[in-house]
Amino acid sequence: MAADVPPTLSVQLLEEPRLLKLKKVFVSKFHSTPKFYARAPGRVNLIGEHIDYCGYAVLPMAIQQDILIAAEPLSTPVIHLANTNPLYLDFSTNANNIEINQAKPLWHNYFLCGFKGIEDHFDLGSPSGMNCLVEGTIPASSGLSSSSALVCCAGLVTLLANGKTLPKVELAELCAKSERYIGTEGGGMDQSICFLAEEGTAKLIEFSPLRATYVRLPRGVAFVIANSCVEMNKAATSHYNTRVMECRLASKLLAKSRGVDWKATAKLQDVQAALKLSLEEMLAVVEEVLHPEPYSIEEIGERLGTSPRELYAQILSQNTQDVTIFKLYQRAKHVYSEAARVLEFKKICTEAPADAIQLLGGLMNQSHVSCRDLYECSCPELNQLADICRQFGAVGSRLTGAGWGGCIVSMVPADKLERFLANVKEAYYKHGDQRLALEENNLFATNPGGGAMVFLEA
Ligand code: GLA
Repeated sequence: MAADVPPTLSVQLLEEPRLLKLKKVFVSKFHSTPKFYARAPGRVNLIGEHIDYCGYAVLPMAIQQDILIAAEPLSTPVIHLANTNPLYLDFSTNANNIEINQAKPLWHNYFLCGFKGIEDHFDLGSPSGMNCLVEGTIPASSGLSSSSALVCCAGLVTLLANGKTLPKVELAELCAKSERYIGTEGGGMDQSICFLAEEGTAKLIEFSPLRATYVRLPRGVAFVIANSCVEMNKAATSHYNTRVMECRLASKLLAKSRGVDWKATAKLQDVQAALKLSLEEMLAVVEEVLHPEPYSIEEIGERLGTSPRELYAQILSQNTQDVTIFKLYQRAKHVYSEAARVLEFKKICTEAPADAIQLLGGLMNQSHVSCRDLYECSCPELNQLADICRQFGAVGSRLTGAGWGGCIVSMVPADKLERFLANVKEAYYKHGDQRLALEENNLFATNPGGGAMVFLEA
């Protein structure tokens, strides 16, 4: 069976104005022509927030907005990167000496993550140099996965420039791993949907082993993305990694309390698998074992029979070394309940009962409340925007992506869409403290888009 690799499309550039335009800029920048183009989409997560790194399935879909790269392999070992957005400065480096700066997560570092992922995977002694021109249409730091799309697109470009191929699933896993060079301990959702998305369908993404299953979304609704315009770059703060660490510590405490090897336990899903319990039963275990008061590192150490120093050295990431308070009960409760909501969402989509839309909307709303109150990854603007969306007809509204800023995704009955967009525009973007200039890409309805692919000029 042929490996399921990212598709390559042969195109007439005259019929692809975006590619043609990119080619022209490339020529004027590098004085040579691109040999191929690659695109990688952003995504919106419909439900299942902050649970991929705990081992649980999530339910995203790709969006139309993407990263597009025009590329030319070079015989000299240099990488020249340019971006059509003047905010993102040119960057050049030696291909044999890649350094990823975690302290300053500038745009080119995400490219280098994808590059290094391929370099390491194939153990490329002397990777091909490249000229690359990058264009992005995914709003940055908005929870729509612009950084992962850049990592994936860079991985794909590097793969091709070095004459290699890899199945989509392996590319997704490799890019998820290599994005961690930037310092965030992300799960694999973004890179997986980026490669495994198919036009017209959302996907249930499961991990270990990674697979993506078709999810038929109900008819008669639109999914609308609304940007709170609060920017959140998860590599520039420790919020995200703190949650990953809290989940890791919670899994160890739960394991220890039930006689499971806590040192070998890294994810909340590991505990469930070891105990062979349902998600509901895991929620009962959380109630029994963990307390709602925040834990100190000393208490965690005591419970595990180890020292705080060991915990900081062995378990906590570099950018969470100064965290002293851990809300293990709240985080574990969110994760197990959110994991159950994802499965319920998928079931309703499959069974399509008469009240499917109401039920799905209810799950999305519950997910937002859990992110807000238990996981504490929301912010006042996101909460306000979700309220406004519900007030103007959304059946369900929730923050999407890492949170602490970024976007809300709402499910809106199709016949209310136009009024919904006009009202939300008026209520959030034209008034209030934000006084935000409403650009088209801050509020839009989206359809499930296709995954990463390659274009060759015919
Ligand atoms: C970011 C990460 C994902 C996932 C989400 C939260 O997008 O890259 O792996 O954890 O946050 O659901």
